[in-house]
Amino acid sequence: MDFALTEELSMVRDMARSFADDHLMPLATQHDRQAKIDPSVFPAMAELGLWGLTVPEAYGGSGLSNVALALVLEEVNRACAATGVTLSVHSSLVCAPIDKWGTEEQKQAWLPKLASGEVIGAYSLSEAVSGSDAAALVATATQDGDEWVLNGTKLWVTTGEQAGLFIIYVRTDPTVSKAKGITAFLVPADTPGFEVGKAEKKTGIRGSSTNELILNGVRLGPEHILGEVNRGFHIAMDTLDGGRIGIASQSVGIGRACLEASIKYSKEREQFGQPIGNFQAIQWKLADMSTHLDAARFLVHHAAWLRDQGQDCGRMSSQAKLMASKTANFCADECLQIHGGAGYTDDFHVERLFRDARITEIYEGATDIQRIVIARSLLRA
Ligand code: CAA
Repeated sequence: MDFALTEELSMVRDMARSFADDHLMPLATQHDRQAKIDPSVFPAMAELGLWGLTVPEAYGGSGLSNVALALVLEEVNRACAATGVTLSVHSSLVCAPIDKWGTEEQKQAWLPKLASGEVIGAYSLSEAVSGSDAAALVATATQDGDEWVLNGTKLWVTTGEQAGLFIIYVRTDPTVSKAKGITAFLVPADTPGFEVGKAEKKTGIRGSSTNELILNGVRLGPEHILGEVNRGFHIAMDTLDGGRIGIASQSVGIGRACLEASIKYSKEREQFGQPIGNFQAIQWKLADMSTHLDAARFLVHHAAWLRDQGQDCGRMSSQAKLMASKTANFCADECLQIHGGAGYTDDFHVERLFRDARITEIYEGATDIQRIVIARSLLRA
């Protein structure tokens, strides 16, 4: 067993850290206030190869591991969680399933564009009637000759406004049990009948867009089907096993930002004639934050490593997300408490961290869904 990062992993992490420090950190407040990621960010990420980190080299990516992606996502999210979730969804919910389930033609058509950042990807599973109960979705695709015709409304789609390619899950067989009649379609944003609808106004990660999608007679040939007809739910779930590692990495990044802000403020802020870091009440908060964060990071790296080995990582990825998202919220709460009244104003970025942390316990499977996945795995064993 070796806890040290390889030279390559250290280099990738350091590259992401300096990009995050120099480019993202100064823009994160602007992203939040303007509810928009600065136009300079995506091309800068493309220049560093961040969009294609885990895409195989044969399709224009860097062919790096899920551990490398986790390290990069921690750094990016430590600086800006809105940018971080965009990268996480693109990498783990779009590039990864195309690489795993796509035909050679689909890989050739999409992976090079996704790896270069020419096209940004989005994943669309949820609907008004199907959040936690993902298999209850009702948007449909019906067959008309060779083509499929998609109708319905999808909700809460991350990166809706910027994405050029959407993986959309719809019902293709209403006669079988819920999970067995769902198919994944690759839908380019410029397909007639496809429209990006209402943008959500969110509590946190405001720089990242979250939209409704309207499917109004979207006609697609069979070459747009990802994997097999009626096997889409398996793809959605397997994909989320990877995606949850990304959100767990995001959580560790946000939590680390909270710890770093707390250490800095504890040294600067004086009360009762001394820095507040001298008080045991503050010291214990810092100690607990650090301990929870290190434990969460180990789970994240273990889950990513299992995925890299091609082993079942479902339980570990849910454990990582459960632990890391709770840790992010714990750290954000303690961080705000340490900053007191100042932390409750927008003079300090800790109020943004507090708002950004909250979503990590909700998207890509709410906390209680992670517990369901973990418990089912334990009881099956
Ligand atoms: N990998 C592959 N297949 C899987 C799987 C996995 N991890 N988990 C389940 N399956 C398969 C099962 O084997 C089963 O297959 P068969 O029908 O062939 O037997 C099928 O899927 C149905 O499985 P379940 O009976 O377990 O399904 P369920 O209806 O009980 O749902 C659930 C399980 C875990 C609750 C699931 O609905 C779930 O994960 N819900 C949360 C949804 C979610 O995370 N949404 C995130 C939206 S995307 C997002 O948030 C992205 C973003 O914007 C940032």
